[in-house]
This record gives sequence, C-alpha cells and structure tokens, in this order.
Amino acid sequence: MQHTQKNERIWWKEGIVYQIYPRSYMDSNGDGIGDLPGILEKLDYIEGLGVDIIWLNPVYKSPNADMGYDISDYYDIMDEFGSLADWDKLLEGLHRRGIRLVMDLVVNHTSDEHPWFIESRSSRDNPYRDYYIWRPPKGGREPNNWESHFSGPAWTYDARTGEYYLHLFDTKQPDLNWENPRLRSDIFAMMRWWLDRGIDGFRMDTINMLSKVPGLPSVKPEKPGEYRPGHRYFMNGPRIHEFLQEMQEKAIAGYDAMTVGETSMVDPELALQYTGGDKPEMSMLFQFDHMLIDRDPAGDRMTFRRWGLPELKKIIENWQITLHGRGWNSNYLTNHDQPRAVSRFGNDRQYRVEAAKLLAVFTLTLEGTPYIYQGEEIGMTNVSFDSIDQYRDVDTLNHYHCAKERGLSDVELFEGYRRFSRDNARTPMQWDRTENAGFTSGTPWIEVNPNYKDINVRADLERKDSVIRFYRQLIRLRKSSLTLIYGGFRLLDRENPQVFAYLRRGEDLSVVVNNDGRVDGDYLVILNFSDQSAVFRTEELEKGLAGWSCILGNYAEFSEYSVREDLRPWEARIYGRPAEYRQKGKNQQ
Ligand code: GLC
Ligand code: CA
Repeated sequence: MQHTQKNERIWWKEGIVYQIYPRSYMDSNGDGIGDLPGILEKLDYIEGLGVDIIWLNPVYKSPNADMGYDISDYYDIMDEFGSLADWDKLLEGLHRRGIRLVMDLVVNHTSDEHPWFIESRSSRDNPYRDYYIWRPPKGGREPNNWESHFSGPAWTYDARTGEYYLHLFDTKQPDLNWENPRLRSDIFAMMRWWLDRGIDGFRMDTINMLSKVPGLPSVKPEKPGEYRPGHRYFMNGPRIHEFLQEMQEKAIAGYDAMTVGETSMVDPELALQYTGGDKPEMSMLFQFDHMLIDRDPAGDRMTFRRWGLPELKKIIENWQITLHGRGWNSNYLTNHDQPRAVSRFGNDRQYRVEAAKLLAVFTLTLEGTPYIYQGEEIGMTNVSFDSIDQYRDVDTLNHYHCAKERGLSDVELFEGYRRFSRDNARTPMQWDRTENAGFTSGTPWIEVNPNYKDINVRADLERKDSVIRFYRQLIRLRKSSLTLIYGGFRLLDRENPQVFAYLRRGEDLSVVVNNDGRVDGDYLVILNFSDQSAVFRTEELEKGLAGWSCILGNYAEFSEYSVREDLRPWEARIYGRPAEYRQKGKNQQ
C-alpha cells in the first residue's frame, strides 16, 4: 500500500466505491440466490454508474450461518455463487472496464466447518488446537461473562474435549487466536494468494477485534447467568497495532492495494493511528459514530432514540477536521448491516426521491472515499415484514429468540426490526416491475420489498428527475473537482436544526503534495434535512455573493434560486465559486 503522512493523490482517495451484496444482487440460474454470473450480467449497469471500485461481500465457501461471514474455505467460492472460474471472469470483466475489485477479508473468525476448526476441536493436543481460543469451564459455567454480538453467551461448550471456545459472533463463528504466529502467517499467505490473483484490496471485517486482553477478564460486576458486552477487552486490544503492521509488511506491502477496516468504537484520534502517521495500518476505515446516533444506549441494538441534526453535524465535523491531511475518511450512510439510508436519515414516503438525492449529495461532497450500497442509487427503502418467518438474518433471529424468552411482545420487537434489522438492506435488488423485481425467476431467498413496482432501476432510469441520473451527475462532479476530494471542510450555521451546510475549501489543497500545481474553486453545500421549508443564511455569502453560482440541486428548477431563497423540504444545493474569486477576495484584504 502506498501511503504518506500528507494527502498524496492516489486512486483509492479519488475513486467511488459501489458495494455489492452478491446474495441479493442478481440471480442468474433461478435458484433464488444472487450469484457471480448474475453480477457479470450487470457490469454495463455498474460501469454506467461511474463508480471505480467494487467491494464484494464475502463470496468464499460458507455454510451461511452468517451469510458468508462464516468461511469454511478461504480459497474457493461458495457453491451458490458459482465457481472460481466465474470469479475470474468477474475480475476480468471489471478490470477491462477500469473498475477495481476489493474483497471482504474475514479473519477474526472462521466457520466451525473450516478444516482448522474441525482439527482444533478434535483433541486438546491437536496442532490446530491453538488456532482458536479454548478455555476450561469456570465454576461449571462459561470462562467469562462476555455476550456475543448476536445475543447470548460468547462461548460454546464442546463436550468432546470438555472446554469452551470463544465466538464474539454466532456459535458457528469461532474466533481465531491471533496470538498464534502460525495462524497469522497462514492468513497472510491467503491474502497474498488473492492479491496475486489480481484483486485490488480488502475490506477488513471487524478488524479491530483481533487482539484480546490476556486472561480474557469478565466484565464487572458479574452476575451468574448474565452476559455483558466485553468490548473493552477486545476492541482495539493490546496487540492490534502490532498485528496490523505485520499484516501490512507481510501481506500488503508490494501490492498496489487499498484496505478499509471495519472498526466500531474508534474515535478520530485512534483513526489517525490506524490510517495516518509513518506506518499506516490501513488506507481508511469505517467509523460508527453516525451509525449509533439513533440507538438508545440504555436499550440494545434494536432500540431507537430520537436525535437532532446538530448531533450529526458535530460527529461529521469531528471526523472531517481531525483526519484532514493526516488520515483518510470513508463516507457511508448504509451497508449490508445497516438500515436503508433514505429510511433512516431521510424520508422514505412523501419526499423519498428528494431525500435520497440529498443523501447522495452528502456522501459525495465530504472529504473521504464515498461508498454507495446497492439499491441506494435508486433510493431503496427499509422493508416492513410482520412475521419472524420472513427474516433471514441470524442477528435478528437470535435477538428475537432471546427477547421472547424475556417475555417481550412481537409488537415492540417488530418496531425495532423494521427500523434496524440487517435484512432491511438485504432484500433483493429491485431491477424492474416484473415478478420478484427481475431479481430471480425462482423463489427469492428473502422476500422482495413489495414497493418494487414503483421503486426499481428500470423505472428510475425512465424518469427525467431520477435518483440514479442524479447520482451519475454527482459522481461526475466529484471526479472533476480536487476540492471535493481533498479540500478542507468548514461547518456553517452549527445550531440550525434543519439545515446542514458546509464549505469545501480549495485553498486547503495545499495539503495535496503531488497535485501538479492544480487549483480548484470552493464549494458550498446546503442540505435541508427536514420535511418543512427552511431558512439558511450565512455570512460567508452575505459578504460576497460574487462568484458563487448554484451548480447542482435536487429540485428541477434549482438554478433559478439564489442563495437567499428558502429551501424546500429535503432540498439540497451545491454552489460553486471558481478559484479566482477566492484569490481576488484575498488581494482586496
Ligand atoms: C461484520 C459484518 C457482518 C458480520 C460480522 C461478523 O460486522 O459486516 O455482516 O455479521 O462482521 O463477521
Ligand atoms: Ca443463483
């Protein structure tokens, strides 16, 4: 990986990522499950979006307890998705179009069906025993009181050898023991194998959980039979930087590859340690602050809390400012683990189209690499299931069973799932208005969102004012501007409860060291995050309206509107000002 302390121009900073969840993208053979040949059929569509990089969720062999995040063979493709030969075709097809491919790297755990684990559990003195984390029972119970991310204890007892193994996720996802150097070198060899096959990087799953605090202490106070999140004992653990630096040296160095770490519980200062400095441990990371904004800390992962726009501004500002010129951000509003962006941060009814476009502006005008999740480009929404049988996600299903044991009612539980279940983002891609949204000719593995007749790629492409056309325009705009990629960020009108507005400043391009002396103008982004019209006034513009003009907006007649005009519900506008104006202003002072 190429890195410098400063902002050097590099492809993964200038590229735009499109995330594909293969199981739900396109089914080529009618078995109801999306697959690699299905993606291959859609390459022209993907190219047409103007994206540069694909992040593919796991496609490795897997019994799918957690939809591919439980890998039983790192060197082969899941049966349902096709073969290695299909995968080679996909890589070739993408590269031919100038699109790079980033694969998911799931190395905190494997499947319990991985040969390493089968060996490991077979006897206490098996050479693979130490590839996983085994502990004897404590007082007849689990070795500590850690809770799994998917509810219940993080330990499962294995009668054959009379010990428990650790699994921070599902019981079918035993955690690997990164303390073991043999395990590490096997993982690095596997990573090089894929890089040698031609991939362009990795999205590193739950990567900051690799190092556990020695002794695996319980969370105090302990109560028998009660399990508690053990985060402080495995998030950003004692050896994490050492492990990731070793990974850079032994697996990534020498390849022109990007890496993006999935890192919950990281603040911007820690992010600098991961992505900046002399020895960056990853190109960029996914931070979670804005993903927690609507969760009630007193409840669990399905409990909603009201939030205000100034809170979101504060989070984004903190990340934008701290990482500028020192680390690198990634900008995302959704993915396969999160609700649909327009349902969560926008309005998925009356103003769905406007809100989806506003969120697009937001993602594509911040500093950092933008990520678009499949379906986001047409404003797909959360799904409203009303029976637990319609859900597929292990996280939701486990949550349901544990909550039922505690006596919670379906009514309260489903409210949470409609908002937060990971299945909201996993319903099939909506291609057209034919049966099953054109995703499959068979029975889809998870139900299609019934709104597919209105919301689908085909219908959207036919609309003049469509979400997808707007994305394409925005993507072109972003690529044409160094300021939008590397420029500084300044938040305006901090306390305004409706409007999120900021400047991207071309003068801050001085941090871009190899930009060949290119200059670029300034941008002003104004976003009305509400169902009501809103007023926005900024001194910046009152002082000198000269030079600023509206270059893009999500209402058809945007160009007629001067900056003094009120904003309509969910209205988004981008104003631009050429560099000369900035310089003129300076000379006059
Ligand atoms: C990550 C993945 C998620 C998976 C979990 C365990 O959070 O994005 O889908 O369930 O890791 O691998
Ligand atoms: Ca299929």
